[in-house]
Amino acid sequence: MTLSLSLGTPVNTALLAYILYSVQKLVFPSASAPKKLPTEFKNGYSWMPKSHPPTVLFQTYTPKTLQKYNGIDDPRIMLSINGIVFDVTAGRNFYGPNGMYGNFAGHDASRGMAKQSFDIEMLTPIDQPLDKLQDLRPDEIENMRGWIEHFSNKYIVCGRLVDNDAI
Ligand code: HEM
Repeated sequence: MTLSLSLGTPVNTALLAYILYSVQKLVFPSASAPKKLPTEFKNGYSWMPKSHPPTVLFQTYTPKTLQKYNGIDDPRIMLSINGIVFDVTAGRNFYGPNGMYGNFAGHDASRGMAKQSFDIEMLTPIDQPLDKLQDLRPDEIENMRGWIEHFSNKYIVCGRLVDNDAI
C-alpha cells in the first residue's frame, strides 16, 4: 500500500504550511528582543526579579550609629553581640517596639545574651566605651557564643561594632 500525500486538499496544505512555519521558527529564531522585559511568572520563567533584592553593606558601627536601628527610628533593626553586628530586621516580632527582646535592638546585646537577661541594666549606655565583658564566667561566655551561632545561622552579619571614638 502506498501512502500518498495530496496537496490538493486544503487541510493538507494548511498542515504543510504550519510545519514549514514551525521549522523555520526553530532554525531561524527571532533575534529581536521583546519590547518590555517580563518580570513576572506568567507563561514561563521570569527574566528579571520585579525589584532588586535589598543589599546589605558591611559597615563599621559605633554604639551611637547603631542606636538608630532600634526598631523605631529606621525600618532596619540591628544588634550586636561581641562586636558582630547582625541585621535582625527579619525578627521584627522579637526586636520591634513591642517585641520581647526590643531592648536589644540598636544596642550591644553581648552581656544580656551571655547572662540570659533582657533587663535594661545589661545594656551599656551608648556614650560609654564598649563593654569589655571581662567579668563574665566561662559558662556565660559559652552562652553568648551559642547565641552568636544562632544569629549567624539565622540573620545577616552586616558589620562590626567599635568604640565611638574609634572612627
Ligand atoms: C520568660 C522566659 C522566656 C520565654 C518564655 C522565651 C521564649 C522564647 C521563644 C518562644 C522564642 C522563639 C524561639 C524560636 O522561634 O526559635 C525565643 C527566642 C529567643 N529568646 Fe527567649 N524566652 C524567654 C527568656 C529569654 C531571655 C531571658 C532571653 C535573654 C537573652 C531570651 C532571648 C531570646 C533570643 C535572643 C531569642 C532568639 C530570637 C531570634 O531568633 O531572633 N529569651 N524565646
